[in-house]
Amino acid sequence: MNNVLEEIEKWKLKKNALIVAHNYQPGYIQDIADIVGDSLELSKLAKETSAPEIVFCGVKFMAETAKVLSPEKNILIPKIDAECDLAKSISLKDLDCLKEKYPNAPVVCYVNSTLEMKANSNYCCTSSNALKVVESIPEDTVIFVPDKGLGSWIKQKSYKNIILHPGKCPVHWDLSIDEIEQTCKSYPGAPLLTHPESNSAVRDRSDFVGGTGGMINFVKNTDFTHYIIATDVGMIHRLKKLNPKKDFILAAENISCRDMKKISTQDVLSSLKEEQYLINIDPELSKKALMAINKMMEITA
Ligand code: 13P
Ligand code: SF4
Repeated sequence: MNNVLEEIEKWKLKKNALIVAHNYQPGYIQDIADIVGDSLELSKLAKETSAPEIVFCGVKFMAETAKVLSPEKNILIPKIDAECDLAKSISLKDLDCLKEKYPNAPVVCYVNSTLEMKANSNYCCTSSNALKVVESIPEDTVIFVPDKGLGSWIKQKSYKNIILHPGKCPVHWDLSIDEIEQTCKSYPGAPLLTHPESNSAVRDRSDFVGGTGGMINFVKNTDFTHYIIATDVGMIHRLKKLNPKKDFILAAENISCRDMKKISTQDVLSSLKEEQYLINIDPELSKKALMAINKMMEITA
């Protein structure tokens, strides 16, 4: 074991800390984490653990959600500039415009959003429960922010009038169906797994559409030799580790979220040693965001 890894182990024990990593983190970060999972799973687990300190290897909105759910814990993110282009694709002003135009429509906010956005929404949702959350709402018209990918996917499936904001995750929305078709041709019979943040041409071509946790379950419950994965390359490492006898092919070249690749093992060590970067959130915003998150939890309990 190299020095950095030994030091991480030492500091983790010393501080009784837990390292959690999102499924999109590079393999070397997933391998040092105590828990690897999807965004909501990690926040929930961060709440359930008795560890007083959590090093969250992911992007900022995930660490913030963990802090909202566990305000008494030290939540650390090793790189403070690990953000999310989708979360940044909407401003409060954009949301206010939508609310003005549709004053009676409740707002559903995808968890991939800033704390401010969650605090100004009625409900939160994840990719796995968005349809359930939307359909549980009594009103017929619902504002969905910030992702037009997940929003349009729900719109295809729901009888509700869904008002979309044109935000996107560039990693998924900009995937090329032609490139994916080429990969599918090379592996006939292999199922294509995509994330709902993708464009509709990609989603419609898929055998499974779902979040990273859903993809893991799909692979676990099916018996193909090859799977074509149209999401961040970190998932290839995760799936291979869980299913060593199956093969996973990235659907297009270099599907990778740059913000998810910012954290190094040295950053994790510095995070533990120097408590950087501590997530601090405004208590009022946190209280309001928690209301939207709790509504989602109640609906999906
Ligand atoms: P999951 O919630 O499916 O883990 O995805 C998070 C994400 O950032 C997707 O782009
Ligand atoms: Fe955000 Fe997209 Fe990266 Fe997920 S993959 S963290 S939605 S930019």
